[in-house]
Amino acid sequence: MKKIIIKGGNKLRGTVNISGFKNAALPIMVATILTKDKCIIENLPMIRDVDCLKEILIKIGAKVKLIEKGAMEIDTTNIEKCKLTDDINRKMRASYYLLGAGLGRFKESEVLYPGGCDIGVRPIDQHIKGFEALGATVEIDHGIIKCKADKLRGNRIYLDVVSVGATINIMMAATLAEGITIIENAAREPHIVDVANFINACGGKIIGAGTDIIKIVGVERLKGCNYSVIPDQIEAGSYMIMGVATEGDIIVNNVIPKHLEPVTAKLREMGVEVTEYGESIRVTVNKKLRSVDIKTLPYPGFPTDMQQLMSALLSKTKGTSVVTETIFDGRFKFVDELKRMGANILVDGRIAVIKGVENLMGTRVEAKDLRGGAALIVAALSANGVTEINKAYHIERGYEDIIDKLLNLGADIKEG
Ligand code: EPZ
Repeated sequence: MKKIIIKGGNKLRGTVNISGFKNAALPIMVATILTKDKCIIENLPMIRDVDCLKEILIKIGAKVKLIEKGAMEIDTTNIEKCKLTDDINRKMRASYYLLGAGLGRFKESEVLYPGGCDIGVRPIDQHIKGFEALGATVEIDHGIIKCKADKLRGNRIYLDVVSVGATINIMMAATLAEGITIIENAAREPHIVDVANFINACGGKIIGAGTDIIKIVGVERLKGCNYSVIPDQIEAGSYMIMGVATEGDIIVNNVIPKHLEPVTAKLREMGVEVTEYGESIRVTVNKKLRSVDIKTLPYPGFPTDMQQLMSALLSKTKGTSVVTETIFDGRFKFVDELKRMGANILVDGRIAVIKGVENLMGTRVEAKDLRGGAALIVAALSANGVTEINKAYHIERGYEDIIDKLLNLGADIKEG
């Protein structure tokens, strides 16, 4: 998708069905490497990153079959080693999960340093700390991360930084290690729980996922299983914010409301009417909204992946908001594009001061990363006139059928 063209001003109304969670689907697809049996993974979002990871799994020898939309059979029986140094690795961040899964099954893995959104420094020192604590040697040779272990033994690992990726990678490697591993200061995101639930469904023994202390009891082997990925709380939050930006009235369906608590709380603080049902949330704007401050934190704090979309919403909300991005040091690149639309935002390092303006104006802008691109959609939907969002391929990495879903909600949107 090259560009998205949006004519602002339509109020979004209606219901949108949320897809499976990208950031759970990707590690779960890789975790199938831990078993020699077939797995069936359902509720996968049909997005570019899932396609790319399917290609990666096939490249290393897996058989991957699309059974129906959103369901894949992944057979990793014939994989003999987990070594992938192709540039394909650079297309996403999640390719680094091959390190933990490869170590777990083959006691060896080699992966080109991963890519992913350009949202700041994205080191992997905590992943390496965990692998070495389990008995692996890790070296980075010409941009290739090489892990090797004669044997993996359980250990106690304290993460210096709360890291989703490191928590998941270490969990995967420890699943087939000898003995017990304890990860302290672990990330608590819902997708960590989803990956742990998948591994346990295959016969693993992971206790405490979702808390900051996770215990992994090593097992001999895993068997195959059928598993359905949790709904994407970031996609859901994105549509909620788009609904608010247009002063609309929308329902996001197939969600777990608890996973959206930080977003719901902030929208309510702004004066948005948010009603939670069993598996859906309704968002209605009945009055003038007020500005709020945002500080991103690991779950259950306000998610960094929602920061950019909220900043776009706040750029047209009366008052002044202070947004503090504590997770990534380069996640305000989209602000320059918002300023082209008339936003009044001052960025200083990890802090953005947003003075809400009466109107944003449609113009030509460029997506710099996945959520920054979605933030431009938020702005475009509420802007006066037509906005052309270039480099829209960033957006399709993480949002399934976003044009159709927004058309169904009444947006004036098309692919350019
Ligand atoms: C995952 O990235 C997500 N990506 C990101 O979503 C998300 O923003 C992030 O978690 C935080 O929730 C996927 O799941 C594919 P981290 P990840 O390791 O695992 C530092 C999106 O838009 N850190 O939790 O790379 C790091 O620099 C994407 O869907 C270390 O210092 O994030 C950052 O400051 C964007 N050393 C913080 O921890 C390490 O070894 C959190 O990073 C690892 C991380």
